[in-house]
Amino acid sequence: MNDDDHVCLCFHVSKRKIVNYCKRERPPVASLISDCLSAGTGCGWCVPFLKSLHKQAVAGDTNPDLPLSPAEYAKRRTTFRTTGRREAVDSAAEDGHTGTKNAD
Ligand code: FES
Repeated sequence: MNDDDHVCLCFHVSKRKIVNYCKRERPPVASLISDCLSAGTGCGWCVPFLKSLHKQAVAGDTNPDLPLSPAEYAKRRTTFRTTGRREAVDSAAEDGHTGTKNAD
């Protein structure tokens, strides 16, 4: 996911805003990310991903990332909103496992 891609689709909050918020404010718990433009307070879809970004930022990762493309992320959110169910990769995001990253 790129920095300008939205993580909270309800409130149009980009990954860049969330990561910068975590680096600047150092919230002790991920739920405080809601202070960043209300991220996570809508449908709830992005909450595991906010937790993952928070976990990575707190651990000192200089480039926190998420394991999905924006298109796949939006598609899975649609499924979540329709069925109320998450796919396995969402649990992986919550655990802080972010899949592949560029290795340069
Ligand atoms: S996508 Fe963040 S609350 Fe809905």
